[in-house]
Amino acid sequence: MNKNIAVLASGRGSNLEAIIKNIEIGKCIANLVLVVSDNPDARALKIARDHNIKALYLDPGPKKTWLLPEYEENYVRVLKEHNVNLVCLAGFMRIIKQPLLNAFPNRILNIHPSLLPAFPGLDVQRKALAYGVKYSGCTVHFVDDTVDGGPIIAQAVVPILDNDTPETLAERILKEEHRIYTEAINLILSGQYQIVGRRVIRVES
Ligand code: GRF
Repeated sequence: MNKNIAVLASGRGSNLEAIIKNIEIGKCIANLVLVVSDNPDARALKIARDHNIKALYLDPGPKKTWLLPEYEENYVRVLKEHNVNLVCLAGFMRIIKQPLLNAFPNRILNIHPSLLPAFPGLDVQRKALAYGVKYSGCTVHFVDDTVDGGPIIAQAVVPILDNDTPETLAERILKEEHRIYTEAINLILSGQYQIVGRRVIRVES
């Protein structure tokens, strides 16, 4: 099966960096063909170029939180031109809508720094601390037309410590993100799974 992936990222790119490292050491079976950003200054673009991976800034258009259809179509065109089979959002700060979802049905993944369905959206470490939960973590899920709501592929649990701040919690969660994103990508590219209702279940091929 085609193992071409693209990563879409808006900023720091630490998840991208972890995926690249895992590919380089043979832990991730993906072939990373393209990195795309909606932010010309994203560190993610520099990380990709430093590793000789094609990196493009694509104009996101006038809206702040999503792409108008004609702009999203451009993302679809570029991803298809690169024969991308799986799209991985890694800190891509846009809600994904129809042109992309239709072009890549159940082929777009996202990583989120909470144990979904708890704390979707933004600023989630602060929300987890304010709520008083004892455990948080991270989730890799399929992207659908809801915000952080698609079927869950992988999760990791991180205990919350009494002296945690949003920053210290985010840092510990991020370590787990870097581990489980590769695991989730490997599972989806291996094809050894089924989606049953909302459950993503491992199957032997
Ligand atoms: C991560 O915490 C990820 O879960 C969230 O955005 C952050 C991106 O971080 N969606 P990075 O750009 O991968 O360092």
